[in-house]
Amino acid sequence: MKFFIDTANLDQIREAQDLGILDGVTTNPSLMAKEGISGQDNVMAHYKAICDIVDGDVSAEVISTDYEGILREAEVLAALDEKIVVKVPMIKDGVKAINYLTQNGVKTNCTLVFTVGQAIMAAKAGATYISPFVGRLDDLSENGLELIANMAQVFAVQGYQSQILAASIRSPLHIVDCARLGANVITSPLSSILALLNHPLTDIGLAKFLADHQKANG
Ligand code: E4P
Repeated sequence: MKFFIDTANLDQIREAQDLGILDGVTTNPSLMAKEGISGQDNVMAHYKAICDIVDGDVSAEVISTDYEGILREAEVLAALDEKIVVKVPMIKDGVKAINYLTQNGVKTNCTLVFTVGQAIMAAKAGATYISPFVGRLDDLSENGLELIANMAQVFAVQGYQSQILAASIRSPLHIVDCARLGANVITSPLSSILALLNHPLTDIGLAKFLADHQKANG
C-alpha cells in the first residue's frame, strides 16, 4: 500500500519525504487555503514546489464544475509537472472530464467518493485513483471502512484498474484497516502516519536495553 500525505504544508511534506516512506501528496482547495496560498500564480508555484520535494504523484484539484472548465484547468495543471495528477470531483461533468483526460494520457484522481456506485462510475471513466472519504462517512455514523472493503471486492471481481486511494484518514488504525481491507493507497495527515511508529512497550524496552548496556559498560 502506498503512503500519500494529505497536506499542502511544505515542511510536513519534506519531513515525510526525508523519512523515506512517502509515495505522493494529495491537496485540496481547503488545504491550500490553510497554508495561505491564493491567486493563480501562487497556487501554481506552490504545486511546483511540492513536486520538487516529493518523488511521486501530486494531486492538484480543479475548482471548475463544468466539463470545459475542468479540461481547461487540467491542461494547465498537467503541463506544470509530470508528477501532477488532476483531481476532479465526483460529478457528472467530472466523470466526463476524467474519461477525456484518461484517453489523452492525463492522470486523474476522482475525489469526494462516498458510495460504491460512484466508485464504479469513476472506474468506468478510467480514473487513475479514486478517493473514498473514510473519516467523513464515520462522522455521519456511516462505516467508512466498509466502503473500502466493498470497493476492494467490486474492483477485484470486475478487474478495474483504478487504484483505491483511501482519503479522509483520521487515525493510525484507519491506515492499518485500509491496508487490511485492500486499499492501494492511503492519504493521511502526517500525525496519523507518525503515530504508526508508537508503542509504550517499545519505549520501555529501549530504555531498559540502554540502561543495561550502560550498567555493563560503565
Ligand atoms: C482527499 O484527497 C482529501 O484531501 C482529504 O483526504 C479530505 O480529508 P478531510 O475529511 O480530513 O478533510
